[in-house]
Amino acid sequence: MTLSLNTKFLGNLVNDEDLKNISNEVYEAQKLLGSRSGAGNDFLGWVDLPEYYDKEEFERIKKAAKKIQDTCDVFIVIGIGGSYLGARAAIEFVKSPVYNNISNKKTPDVYFAGNSISASALSDLLKICEGKDICINVVSKSGTTTEPAIAFRVFRNLLEEKYGKDGAKERIFSTTDKAKGTLKKFSDENGYETFVVPDDVGGRFSVLTAVGLLPIAVAGIDIDAMMKGAQDARKAYADCDIDTNDCLKYVAIRNVLYRKNKSVEILAAYEPAVQMLCEWWKQLFGESEGKDGKGIFPSSVIFSTDLHSLGQFIQDGSRIMFETVLDIKNSNVELLIPNDPANVDKLNFLAGKDLDYVNHTAMLGTLFAHSDGNVPNIVLELKDRSEYSFGYLVYFFELACAISGYTLGVNPFNQPGVESYKKNMFALLGKEGYEELAGELSARINK
Ligand code: PA5
Repeated sequence: MTLSLNTKFLGNLVNDEDLKNISNEVYEAQKLLGSRSGAGNDFLGWVDLPEYYDKEEFERIKKAAKKIQDTCDVFIVIGIGGSYLGARAAIEFVKSPVYNNISNKKTPDVYFAGNSISASALSDLLKICEGKDICINVVSKSGTTTEPAIAFRVFRNLLEEKYGKDGAKERIFSTTDKAKGTLKKFSDENGYETFVVPDDVGGRFSVLTAVGLLPIAVAGIDIDAMMKGAQDARKAYADCDIDTNDCLKYVAIRNVLYRKNKSVEILAAYEPAVQMLCEWWKQLFGESEGKDGKGIFPSSVIFSTDLHSLGQFIQDGSRIMFETVLDIKNSNVELLIPNDPANVDKLNFLAGKDLDYVNHTAMLGTLFAHSDGNVPNIVLELKDRSEYSFGYLVYFFELACAISGYTLGVNPFNQPGVESYKKNMFALLGKEGYEELAGELSARINK
């Protein structure tokens, strides 16, 4: 089995009666999604995507990935939010968080730009590119998002200076809206190869479109296997029974907990390679559920690292949270702990033991400790960190997120709150059309 949900460490805050009581609401939410009649129903392209994706474009993605692999040392992926997190999550999850430092790999280094407004981050990347052959992939559905647009200007200039306009156009790939939007027009005018962010797929649900698939394929990851994982998850979570459908069960449990004042969900994993998946997950659930004064705040930890920082709070602080622990069953790495004749650390009892066994034992000990400390723990047991499992898990979370959002009574597919900072930023930067707001904000500053 690729993924299964274990409730052994949930504690007694969620009982069978609670699950039974909420199950009808979860089924209604599942039905609402299936009937495509709920709020945000013009953004449901991801539901059937694993099966009904554009096969011609999929082949083009593979070809472009091969061309990029053959022509560059460094591949820069420019994007933010949903146009960035999924690809990075996949590369770190399937390959490694230190993928770029793997010396004998045959694929380009992959760096991500345009996901902040930091001058030092961007200039560090420019330094990394010195003397290297570069390709870039600008990913922006709207084509006008400030952070990637600035980074795209900078890298486009770099490529045009280095390779000339004609040379640069062979190295610039753009992933954007199919027809509308300024980036599509600009890319066509300049002869860049373009890929599509489907109209009916929102950014945070787009990892299995060209948005994620091109960078993922460039890193040498088998995107067929990834799609197969998502296809199988789509089939596995189609039934309408909380007892057999772990996706519905996850939705039910987290909503019961929320109603019992557990307002923070911590996604915990014991592999650093999962850190960016956690970031992707936080965006998925945070942007989908956090609205209208509602929602579970998504946070994350990597253990055992964070047992030495946030562990104290989780064990003993305000009882506001529950944990969802991603237990990756098979690390596929054997690393035996050496014997030390001096035994200064008194750890010779572990000599000859596999580090993965110690990691899993740490997990077990922590599950007992945290659930004894009244932190309900949901455990998601995932077979491994293969591309197949990644695709499977992505679909599980996307589906859970959508059904959970409807159970909560929000539109899981919009993000009206994201606009507020942008308006203020544009007003303060003096963008045309924002004069009135600029006046209001400067009056507040000078008060
Ligand atoms: O999920 C979302 O919709 C957002 O995170 C967007 O992906 C992000 O704001 C980037 O937008 P765009 O792709 O239009 O540049």
